[in-house]
Amino acid sequence: MNLKKEAAIKAAEYVNDGNVLGLGTGSTTHYFIEEVGNRIKNEELEIIGIPTSYQSFLLAKKANIPISTLEEYDIDLAVDGADEIDPDLNLIKGGGAAHTLEKIIDYSAGKFFVIADESKYVKELGNFPVPVEVISESARVVMNALKDMGATSTIRMGQSKDGPVITDNGNFVIDAKFNEILSPEHLEIDLNSIPGVVENGIFTQMVDKAILGTNEGIKEL
Ligand code: A5P
Repeated sequence: MNLKKEAAIKAAEYVNDGNVLGLGTGSTTHYFIEEVGNRIKNEELEIIGIPTSYQSFLLAKKANIPISTLEEYDIDLAVDGADEIDPDLNLIKGGGAAHTLEKIIDYSAGKFFVIADESKYVKELGNFPVPVEVISESARVVMNALKDMGATSTIRMGQSKDGPVITDNGNFVIDAKFNEILSPEHLEIDLNSIPGVVENGIFTQMVDKAILGTNEGIKEL
């Protein structure tokens, strides 16, 4: 059973003719984008997609989803994955280094659904390090600030690329591991107040619905 795919297909059932969709990034939203493409083809739906990354842009092109930008349209529904989801539907995102545009798009959407397999559902956020996108020149200053906040941090390194990951926006990503995250709301604000931080991967008070693929079937929270 592919639990990511099942969650993604359930989310695609909520898509209506005429919708403008925010298209998230990652292996779970990959299935969502494919399924939206299938529905456009089979049901002749008129849909516009607004991608959150080069990855979702390319996938949307492949699925024949017409693409536009936030300059042109407001988003009806954004569907995106997550690295962790807590019972209050706070998230950690950014495992794919796309969290800055994801946050803008997910925040701006009329509705935001997060999709994941059940392994992402946790009692408390923080086992996954918090991705923090930074202007490259600020990396050492931000890492010092993160140390003062109790985190151990590393600059994310590329795979099949020497040196650091460079985001779609031309920045570095620092992964910050905290022993515990007592207040995701406060941490989200505190991280963004460090000079040089572009955006962090904690998403609070944004999710309208979580759709989880579990071994017992789909769960909607
Ligand atoms: C991209 O930067 C992330 O926010 C992803 O949405 C998140 O890492 C979930 O990815 P998967 O669906 O691949 O687990």
